[in-house]
Amino acid sequence: MSPSAVRVVEVGPRDGLQNVKTSVPTEVKLELISRLRDTGLQSIEVTSVVSPKAIPQLADCRQVLASPTVKRLRREGANLRLPVLVPNKKGLQIALDYKVTEVAVFVSATEGFSRANLNCSVEEGLKRAREVASDATAAGIAVRGYVSCIFADPFDGPTPPSAVLRSVQELAQAGCYEVSLGDTLGVGTVIEVRNLITFLADHGVNLHRLAGHFHDTYGQALANVWQAYQCGIRVFDSSVGGLGGCPFAPGAKGNVATEDVVYLFHKAGVQTGVDLDKLAGVGSWISQQLSKPNDSRAGAAIVSK
Ligand code: HMG
Ligand code: MG
Repeated sequence: MSPSAVRVVEVGPRDGLQNVKTSVPTEVKLELISRLRDTGLQSIEVTSVVSPKAIPQLADCRQVLASPTVKRLRREGANLRLPVLVPNKKGLQIALDYKVTEVAVFVSATEGFSRANLNCSVEEGLKRAREVASDATAAGIAVRGYVSCIFADPFDGPTPPSAVLRSVQELAQAGCYEVSLGDTLGVGTVIEVRNLITFLADHGVNLHRLAGHFHDTYGQALANVWQAYQCGIRVFDSSVGGLGGCPFAPGAKGNVATEDVVYLFHKAGVQTGVDLDKLAGVGSWISQQLSKPNDSRAGAAIVSK
């Protein structure tokens, strides 16, 4: 990555869809993945292999992973990362059966959300993540990590930065090539972003192995992306059309919209490798498919020009 470039990790097909209440046909999910790749995105989280009782929307993960669309994209090799979210060894085994080349493990920095989202304590969640990362590495596939609730937990309140540090260090030691910092509730502001990243850096965390994952509940996500960039982060998770949310984080809104992130960086002279006009078309298309307003301000402005 050149010094004036960022990597955008598109999480729309996973985070974006997991909280949609009406069942989205598998063909629509596959077309979304294909259209996203056509915009030049180099990292697309395609689905999750989790309990279908927890996330009914993604119960078709096997069909997605076995599809000609995903197989075709997988042949692009190292130019395209296609991570799949897995919570445990069972999820990893299914992912391996379908020849997935990258998985993402996820833990919460906080107890309340860990119990709600993973049905286990933080300690047990870290243990499972270590096991999955170890087995995945042994199988020769890449592992990404997420730490949720970096600023607050829906049940426990504010998160101590030391709890985030611990989870980040554990995931990095477990072999995650990158750890994404999740503001699951979308409550953080630029001051908290700066303070947390400074705290992590002061405790020896390599900023080049971190990513930012900001939900937009309070409309702060794009500002938080920029603040994290100013602090040295160069990888950002986002969802086309501002889709996203987690059923176990009540009230949380979508991810920062990919179109808004790309618009921001291009205007700042920072490359993303993404064709913004094409991306805006994808955001408009998927919003129509889901019968919802387009939550990307930049995307909506571009398509209405
Ligand atoms: P549990 O009930 O304790 O697990 O759930 P279990 O081992 O007792 O299994 C329960 C059932 O699920 C069994 O099926 C298992 O076979 C099945 P049954 O016998 O009842 O028919 N099962 C699975 N099926 C498919 N794939 C699997 C799997 N594992 C078990 N991998 C469990 C524990 C972790 C499984 C559950 O709590 C779970 O799936 N949680 C995931 C929830 C989730 O996906 N949340 C959203 C993603 S995280 C997120 O959005 C945050 C993030 O975006 C960052 C941020 O914003 O902060 C990443
Ligand atoms: Mg999320």
